[in-house]
Amino acid sequence: MNVTKRSYDAVIVGAGGAGLRAALQLAEAGLNIAVLSKVFPTRSHTVAAQGGVAASLGNSDEDHWHWHMYDTVKGSDWLGDQDSIEYMCRMAPEVVYELEHFGMPFTRTEDGRIYQRPFGGHMSNFGEKPVRRACAAADRTGHAMLHTLYQRNVRANTRFFVEWMALDLVRGPEGEVLGVTAIEMETGEVSVFQAKATLFATGGSGRMYYASTNAFINTGDGLGMAARAGLPIQDMEFFQFHPTGVYGAGILITEGVRGEGGILRNKDGERFMERYAPNAKDLASRDVVSRAMATEIKEGRGCGPEKDHLLLDLSHLDPDVIIRRLPGIREISIRFAGADPVREPIPVVPTAHYQMGGIPTLYSGRVVAPKNGDPDAVVPGFYAAGECACASVHGGNRLGCNSLLDLLVFGRSAGDSMIEDIGKMPGALPDLPRDAAEGSLARLDRLESQKDGESVHEVQAAMRRTMQEHCGVFRFPEMLAKGVAEIEAVAERVSRTGIGDHSRVFNTARIEALEVENLIEAAKATMMGAANREESRGAQARADFPERDDTNWLKHSLWYREGNRIDYRPVHLKPLTVETVALKKRVY
Ligand code: FUM
Repeated sequence: MNVTKRSYDAVIVGAGGAGLRAALQLAEAGLNIAVLSKVFPTRSHTVAAQGGVAASLGNSDEDHWHWHMYDTVKGSDWLGDQDSIEYMCRMAPEVVYELEHFGMPFTRTEDGRIYQRPFGGHMSNFGEKPVRRACAAADRTGHAMLHTLYQRNVRANTRFFVEWMALDLVRGPEGEVLGVTAIEMETGEVSVFQAKATLFATGGSGRMYYASTNAFINTGDGLGMAARAGLPIQDMEFFQFHPTGVYGAGILITEGVRGEGGILRNKDGERFMERYAPNAKDLASRDVVSRAMATEIKEGRGCGPEKDHLLLDLSHLDPDVIIRRLPGIREISIRFAGADPVREPIPVVPTAHYQMGGIPTLYSGRVVAPKNGDPDAVVPGFYAAGECACASVHGGNRLGCNSLLDLLVFGRSAGDSMIEDIGKMPGALPDLPRDAAEGSLARLDRLESQKDGESVHEVQAAMRRTMQEHCGVFRFPEMLAKGVAEIEAVAERVSRTGIGDHSRVFNTARIEALEVENLIEAAKATMMGAANREESRGAQARADFPERDDTNWLKHSLWYREGNRIDYRPVHLKPLTVETVALKKRVY
């Protein structure tokens, strides 16, 4: 197969919020960039984010970035890197106002300021009481943000390669990143995108679970590519279950519903969160609420004939609040649950939502991989931002509405770092190795020539069932041990998948097979990490190790594909300018 070489200053893989924010920075600086996306940019998964973007604007309540930082460290169960967290929380008002000036259609207060609502775990005055910090465009904040950033990129003449899937990282002799290989879906042709700087903004891997709020495109592509290139993936055992996915459909019902006053109830109509989090109640952090819901169901207080879900009650709210501030979830509820929340509660269950782990980076967006005793050794030419990256601001558990903030802050900082590093590389692009596309072509060849291959859909379903059953909200030792064996068996099957359609043009069977090869790496990392970490922290709730263990486990885990092994990296406990948020028991 002919391989076309294309050369740019920078290549960005992914056109969701992080990719678009970075692209804007680079395009406005006059650099020659390529942005690759499997889907049209405004269909990226950022579009599904509903409730808001966190920033201590103080428009409705007194607020401060330091309180936001404290909440984020506490929310992370102290696994977050405190330098990155300070950077993000300090930067939040600036990136939100910037977005406002880009034209983002935020909902407004009576006096015309950006509307803010409470969100889980966001408190005033170092954990005192809920604060209104989530800046919202009704319940379609991600939608508004993505369109704003896309339009701004069109204005800046950003070059998009739409319906292109990146295949593999290209690394040089010293391990530096020199670009990516990619396939154009329309033609089936393969190119090498050569660049001085390569950014992954490929989003999450939520489709590894059976019940997920994630789009079908969220197949951990960046993680798969990084793992195959020999790089580690960090803290994957911390997978967030959003408390309120629509029962039976998985679609997200924003935490903004509880921010506006919605209440979770069990079969007896009890507001059970009062027992689990007496102070924050329904607005405790997501891991706490999801565990409480799973416990209610396990102890027989679930709703419906199977007692397998709970109810989100909004019927006491002014209908006008629902219609004006939560129009999207009303529509979703009517359509997918047959319940109009103005009158009836919405049936909900904890649903796989967000990966806290990812490709390890510094707050500059530069990717790191331990080398010669340096845990923060930078991989030259490689950057990551958004859900595929682990900066690590979310640690063991992400607070709601910190994800949209993460992609704005770290999309921009990665863009700035790329501009800085490219500035130090005048002249021609470094040479590509002669075998730059060989690994990718070999993967495509295998798919073409595989005889009696495994069905992609069956293998995918087996992976999702295994993750759902063995690595859910609560984790049990025997289930994890079985889960590791099962996911390894699924990985074996992934290496033998075959496709029936061998056409070149828009061959979605081939794309799905390639996606599963990425997703299985994310699934292995998640299952291995969960089985290995012998403590409970954030979203990792081990039945056999119910307490957080800072003596042995206050460290990031790094999973390597080679040898399916785990190593560690220290947590950055020192912030940039303020005192460390000292370790303590996390209660809400
Ligand atoms: O509940 C939500 O609106 C989701 C937001 C988030 O994941 O940050």
